[in-house]
Amino acid sequence: MTKEILENILSKYPANKKDGLLPILQDVQNQQGYLTDELLAQVGKYLNLPLNKVYGVATFYDQFIFHPQGQYHIRICRGTACHLFGSATYLDELEKQLKVEVGNTSKDRKFSLEVSNCMGACESAPIVNINDVFYTHVTEPELSRIIHSLKEKTE
Ligand code: FES
Repeated sequence: MTKEILENILSKYPANKKDGLLPILQDVQNQQGYLTDELLAQVGKYLNLPLNKVYGVATFYDQFIFHPQGQYHIRICRGTACHLFGSATYLDELEKQLKVEVGNTSKDRKFSLEVSNCMGACESAPIVNINDVFYTHVTEPELSRIIHSLKEKTE
């Protein structure tokens, strides 16, 4: 992100007012695609907030990410209901299939993988979200089929 773009975002919010933190982080992420340490530091400086406070808020919310996403961004729900339906197994399987660890993006930038807190639809557990599409009551074979078809699309 260029200095001018960041300054343009910051100029929409009053300096030194911590209320602007969340909307600024959202605007920065919408523009950049993810947040970096450098951007968090600059936002903190503008709002006169310590970096640990900015970082604490950014990491509290699932919506913020800290690395470039893959073409397909996969989120596995790790809330209690989804855990009971085996989401940990799904996660292990995806890490193997995609050769990417949770919180990272594959070298070819096709897939990124992360875990999420409860997505708010426990009655539909287990849930997997790929590029904002929710797959509910997903089974392991279904998930394998979905991933296989995504891999084919990217080849
Ligand atoms: S635990 Fe997964 S949606 Fe609630």
